[in-house]
Amino acid sequence: MSATELQAAQSESVGSGPGVAHRDRPALTEPFSIGDVEIPNRVLLAPLAGIGNWFVRLQAKRHGAGMAFSEMVSSHAIHYRNERTLTQLLAIHPDEHPVALQLFGSDPEIMREAAGRVAEAGADIVDLNMGCPVKKVRKTGAGAELLADPDLAVAVARAAVEGCDRPVTVKLRSGLVSGDRSGVGVAVRLVEEAGVSAVAFHPRSANIGHKGFPDYGLVRELVGLVDVPVIVSGGLSDAEHARFAYEESGADAVMIARGSFGNPWIFEELVGTEPEVPPRGVVRDELLWVVDRAEEHFGAERAARYLRKFYPWYLPRLGLSARDVQGLDRIDDLSLVRERIASL
Ligand SMILES: Cc1cc2nc3c(=O)[nH]c(=O)nc-3n(C[C@H](O)[C@H](O)[C@H](O)COP(=O)(O)O)c2cc1C
Repeated sequence: MSATELQAAQSESVGSGPGVAHRDRPALTEPFSIGDVEIPNRVLLAPLAGIGNWFVRLQAKRHGAGMAFSEMVSSHAIHYRNERTLTQLLAIHPDEHPVALQLFGSDPEIMREAAGRVAEAGADIVDLNMGCPVKKVRKTGAGAELLADPDLAVAVARAAVEGCDRPVTVKLRSGLVSGDRSGVGVAVRLVEEAGVSAVAFHPRSANIGHKGFPDYGLVRELVGLVDVPVIVSGGLSDAEHARFAYEESGADAVMIARGSFGNPWIFEELVGTEPEVPPRGVVRDELLWVVDRAEEHFGAERAARYLRKFYPWYLPRLGLSARDVQGLDRIDDLSLVRERIASL
């Protein structure tokens, strides 16, 4: 959502702009519960494929996130005991709790087993992906495709609920194509028939991916229909947008996704005192922390490749452009990467 779109939305909304707290609305700093899991505040890190491993989640926690969701993990890969999935994607750091691990898949029996294994791996919450718009996922019947078969969606969620002793949550979209609002009805069924303990709702249809203005009114509608927490996702690019979405949707919590890229300070901004713009040294140290953790997790060679997407995210906070760091994303030797970052 652009600043202009936000402004237009704010002028249309009735008394619910940022800073205009609704009466009886809990502050984002207040705790809430999902099932038996108490979450210390209402600002959460969204699931992010290819990004949200233990150290990115830990980074969000260090900066004040109430809880982080993992990147999506294939229930089939768990079923077939894929080595990398079991050792890397299910890795949880002791300081992360409470943490939610997200699964995707469309086979209820495989989901039942995967949910149990994820709970054994230490997840406090098991989250199910019913929103992924990517073709590779949808053609297996998983992700957003489950909206096309609500009975199957309910069966998958019910199996997960039965397969583990942790609360199960679902993240889903408002529909498959523009104007389709079937996600609201599916979410209600997931709560009432499958027993899910919270719903994260991204009010954009699958066909538009991550573009366009999210319809927070649909989230508000869902909030009025279910008696479990609803988490709003979509368009939360900075603290102002996040506060706006929280008020406008009436949700119980917000989920920060792209707004966290290169900006873990967004969590502090939302739950603590407004921080000063972090000095360059702090930004450099933060990026170096990510480099160290990536090497720990992936080993040097894979870490160098994984880290390439991180560098551009941190540049604006260092007052730099892509030109200033030319070549950084082609350095494979992490000690040279560290030297280069330290000199920025
Ligand atoms: C790179 C990327 C990876 C994502 N991976 C996942 C995922 O694994 N599971 C999921 O439920 N949503 C995933 N999402 C969706 C986000 O969690 C979030 O719903 C979406 O980005 C909208 O929020 P935003 O507009 O504030 O970024 C992903 C989004 C992005 C940009």
